[in-house]
Amino acid sequence: MRKNIVAGNWKMNTTLEEGVELANNVNALLKERKPNCDVVVCVPFTHLTSVNAVLEPELVGLGAENCSEHVKGAYTGEVSASMVKSTGAKYVILGHSERRQYFGENNEQLLAKTQLALENGLTPIFCVGEVLEERENGSYNDVVQGQVEALFSLSPEDFSKIVIAYEPVWAIGTGKTATAEQAQDMHAHIRKVVESKYGKEIADNTSILYGGSCKPSNAKELFAKPDVDGGLIGGAALDAESFMGIVDAFN
Ligand code: PGA
Repeated sequence: MRKNIVAGNWKMNTTLEEGVELANNVNALLKERKPNCDVVVCVPFTHLTSVNAVLEPELVGLGAENCSEHVKGAYTGEVSASMVKSTGAKYVILGHSERRQYFGENNEQLLAKTQLALENGLTPIFCVGEVLEERENGSYNDVVQGQVEALFSLSPEDFSKIVIAYEPVWAIGTGKTATAEQAQDMHAHIRKVVESKYGKEIADNTSILYGGSCKPSNAKELFAKPDVDGGLIGGAALDAESFMGIVDAFN
């Protein structure tokens, strides 16, 4: 059975002190409820160990926002999958559009990162999504298909461990959300693409999250769609109450 997941992506926000406070608040609010989804926070590398110390693992999972495509060695400034794992993190966001757009990450690198994450027992939250021009010129289904197919050299066993996040780039941080119908159409398309390679069982069991200006006021409608299994939340994850408002959309 596929899981419902609400994952926060803090991006490059919060000092260490602020991040620990936010994590504490998220943990405290989760203690008061029984969410109908798994809850994850993906935080800056510098925060992982300290945030791990304040989260109760049965309430909220911890993740990083990226990892290196290299195992180890002379890559100044990089952080490896095994380093991420050693902090207690269980997830890692890979291929976020900001990584693709501003840091030039390509399919080949993202496959290498995904393989290393899996080898180290991390669950990749693998992001895909089209830019505005591709939405407008109608190529969005093909674009996203290509991004998913970049992982098709993975074994079925490995692919079945991945969470996919569909994040239309034009909806990220813009306040412009995809309609629930647009999200559902793309999620169903992604599931078909996965099915074409890995079969129905793996496709049905793959969690596909929506991301892009998801907030408490629109989460319920998005999550009600049959192929939308939760959200990857940026801005609204920086406030524990609003993040919880999205978690509560599953109740
Ligand atoms: P947003 O970001 O919720 O601020 O639009 C989502 C994301 O980039 O993961």
